[in-house]
Amino acid sequence: MSSVERVRKAIIPAAGLGTRFLPATKAVPKEMLPIVDIPTLQLVVEEALASGIEEIVLVTGRGKSTIEDHFDVSYELERTLRDRNKNDLLREMEKISKMVRLVSVRQKEPLGLGHAVLVARQAIGDEPVAVLLGDDLYDCEGRKPATRQLIDAYERLGGKGVISLMEVAAGQEHLYGVVAGQPAGDGTFRISDMVEKPAPGTAPSRLIIVGRYVLPAAIWPILEKTQPGKNGEIQLTDALRELAIEGAGCHGLVIDGQRHDAGDKLGYLGACLAYALKRPELKPGLLALMRQLVTEHDA
Ligand code: G1P
Repeated sequence: MSSVERVRKAIIPAAGLGTRFLPATKAVPKEMLPIVDIPTLQLVVEEALASGIEEIVLVTGRGKSTIEDHFDVSYELERTLRDRNKNDLLREMEKISKMVRLVSVRQKEPLGLGHAVLVARQAIGDEPVAVLLGDDLYDCEGRKPATRQLIDAYERLGGKGVISLMEVAAGQEHLYGVVAGQPAGDGTFRISDMVEKPAPGTAPSRLIIVGRYVLPAAIWPILEKTQPGKNGEIQLTDALRELAIEGAGCHGLVIDGQRHDAGDKLGYLGACLAYALKRPELKPGLLALMRQLVTEHDA
């Protein structure tokens, strides 16, 4: 048996203001925006659970109580569904409230992703942890869930940090954390450098960090002393760079699956369409609608 410490807990940062989706996100947290009829956050929680995560720490900000309500029991709703014999919906609601052990902690000031992760430290303890960002959705149907793919690599590598990578088109690098590294021969990249949102034209590669991370416990003391970086925020990327260069090492993995950037309007619309097309009851009607719209717009 391997002696690598098991990854049992995950952090989902959900404290952002969601300004890119205003006015929809004025009163509704962006994590609750639906992909067809499932809140984005629920898809991310389901991925974590399917990956073997047992406990989730949500890092929330102001006005996020609807998130907690979503994963709580709703007696009135469940009673009404029972009275109306809407048993399928009732089972679905019960499934959500029994889904997960969820703890939430408050990030009182928006001091960056590294800070949000650090705020969750007390609830996690000195353990390795997965971090899942709700803006990135991975559809890995028929394969292992994205976070599981990272945890498997973490275990194979004897407990090193493993983060999700993706190649983007030239010119897009400045929007992301970007890595430099070499193939390690086992399907992962050994990361030799990282930079958060490099100035246009200065990125070390086109491999960007996507929002899935598996971090060994060694990240905690590094994060504790990470100074504000890009945009004056405490950046997780800066702590990971230190782990990669000075610490136990950090690898990257290109996830086998389809990634959707639900934090971007077009990406969000694409995710809604892609997930709807997976539903047999919606697919024929949606395809007909899409064909009609394309014809109208081409005319
Ligand atoms: C964060 C990370 C960045 C990463 C991105 C992925 O940036 O800081 O390194 O590439 O998520 O979605 P944000 O999108 O929160 O600005």
